[in-house]
Amino acid sequence: MDYLVVRGSKPLKGQISVSGSKNSTLPIMAASLLCSGEVVLTGVPDLEDIKVMAQALEILGAKVKREKDVLIIDGSTVNKIELPEEISRKMRASNLVMGALLSRFHHARVAYPGGCAIGTRPMDLHLKGFQSMGFTIKEEFGFMEGLGSSLGSQEILLDFPSVGATENLMMAAVLLPGTTILRNAAREPEIVDLQNFLNRMGAKIRGAGLDTIRIEGVSRLGSVEHAVIPDRIEAGTFMVAAAISRGEVFIENVVLEHVQPVVSKLREIGAEVLTYNSGIKVVGGGRLRPADIKTMPYPGFPTDMQPQIMALLSSIVGTSVLVETIFENRFMHVQELRRMGADIKVEGRVAIIKGKNRLEGASVEATDLRAGAALILAGLFADGETHINRIDHIDRGYDKIHVKLQSIGADITRGPRT
Ligand code: EPZ
Repeated sequence: MDYLVVRGSKPLKGQISVSGSKNSTLPIMAASLLCSGEVVLTGVPDLEDIKVMAQALEILGAKVKREKDVLIIDGSTVNKIELPEEISRKMRASNLVMGALLSRFHHARVAYPGGCAIGTRPMDLHLKGFQSMGFTIKEEFGFMEGLGSSLGSQEILLDFPSVGATENLMMAAVLLPGTTILRNAAREPEIVDLQNFLNRMGAKIRGAGLDTIRIEGVSRLGSVEHAVIPDRIEAGTFMVAAAISRGEVFIENVVLEHVQPVVSKLREIGAEVLTYNSGIKVVGGGRLRPADIKTMPYPGFPTDMQPQIMALLSSIVGTSVLVETIFENRFMHVQELRRMGADIKVEGRVAIIKGKNRLEGASVEATDLRAGAALILAGLFADGETHINRIDHIDRGYDKIHVKLQSIGADITRGPRT
């Protein structure tokens, strides 16, 4: 298994570029099942999760071709409606094919997605939404099966602004007769990107980015070329890298609005954040101070940046309080940060961080994608060597992060697969 070795305490300096968004590409790949032609996606990151979604589409009969950062998906040959467990368990987001299959074929059978380190990740909001649209839902033999078609116009109120449920229900409604209204919808930028993609294929969707989305059903969707938005979480991760290393980094290919919650928190912490049309400069060299953070649905502080900002707060003398409101078990990185000398106490969903002016390199393990990123960041600050195992988690969501960090002066190497 490959591993990373980070040798810390050097300020990072230089310019780094952000790849396309994993969490925008995945639902848009699922949405390509709605098109009986070919879609071309550009700016697609080279990630394990993207490969798994491509496998899922091919299992359903679609053709997927990759040329550098371009993905060509032909949905005209889709002839199956069942997604087996080995794919669904490998990556939760593969359940996003369910809405598209219901919309196009009025039938879908998807194995339950696996839970993961950060929580049980139920599907109840997705299934309740499909039922409200008139689909019959059966849950048996480890599968979720949807059958039938919409009752016509429907209004669905989500108990929680779930990103995946919003995306799945948008896709389920797009080819059904009548108008579907989603209330208490998630407002993440990836939802807006999905709406833009679907509308360019001929869908009639309005309101993405707000809490009410209106989908007017259409009869067919055509081919389209679409550039996915930049990855706001990768951008946030590099912004924290500049702050935790007390360096000065220019991050390009960022949509400022999408990273606003992270920008305002870093400024509160005392980092200097300068914004330009071409990108964002983060200067971490000044006096940094503790801060209190609560993760919230967008446009609040993103849960996907919680481990990374915890690493930063662990390196700032003083007490910070971090509340994780989205996932019930997203503190798996705490015990790994403690191995590096971090002083963090966890009470349920609250972490109390007593930051220190030094951390020590140690042998640690990535427990999930963003936890792995947090360990790299902590390694940039720590004295000595940090050896990070299970970086397969990191490969799921970061496109050669060690190469990108090397380009701005980080002493980070990837060990051989032994
Ligand atoms: C998406 O996951 C992202 N993944 C996650 O990013 C991100 O952390 C999450 O949204 C929150 O922003 C992708 O977009 C592929 P949710 P998703 O449904 O859609 C509960 C990363 O690191 N819930 O908004 O699965 C759920 O358990 C990943 O890139 C239900 O209870 O998240 C969680 O507590 C990690 N029932 C909360 O809602 C449901 O039916 C938010 O989940 C669905 C969700």
